[in-house]
Amino acid sequence: MKAWFRSRYLDLLGSIYIYNEHRGYTSIDRVLEAVRSRWPDDAELIASIEKHRADERKHYVMFRRWFEDQGKMPLMVERTCGHIDRFVEIMFGRRIDDLDTRTVISDDRLFARLCRVISLTEQRGYKQVEILLAHPLVSHDKRLIKIFRIIEQDEPSH
Ligand SMILES: [Fe+2]
Ligand SMILES: [Fe+2]
Repeated sequence: MKAWFRSRYLDLLGSIYIYNEHRGYTSIDRVLEAVRSRWPDDAELIASIEKHRADERKHYVMFRRWFEDQGKMPLMVERTCGHIDRFVEIMFGRRIDDLDTRTVISDDRLFARLCRVISLTEQRGYKQVEILLAHPLVSHDKRLIKIFRIIEQDEPSH
């Protein structure tokens, strides 16, 4: 019973993570496109966003492999489990998919708000990883611990 519960818990946890990492890198892709068109010469800014995008994509792939190697599919999880979705809805009053990234980036105030959303999502994510690394249900899964350690290292750098 306990093993069953643990396995369900980890499936759900992995599913929430795979959703959020995917949501993260695909949203950063949109930001990147808009930043490239507004500040094409700002190589430093573009490079830092690219690094962030690459990290989030790497996290997504780690969870995907974790599922694949167990022969499992992630559970269906949607935007109510998305942290970036929630922050965007609070700060912009609309869903991510309805957000016009170009308009946001061409307005300094809105752009600052977007940066704040990204930063809040990251801070939240970092705290969450610290909690999960100490969580008894997670500690049984060595591979998951390894994934969370990598995320823990990546977060402050981007
Ligand atoms: Fe991530
Ligand atoms: Fe991150």
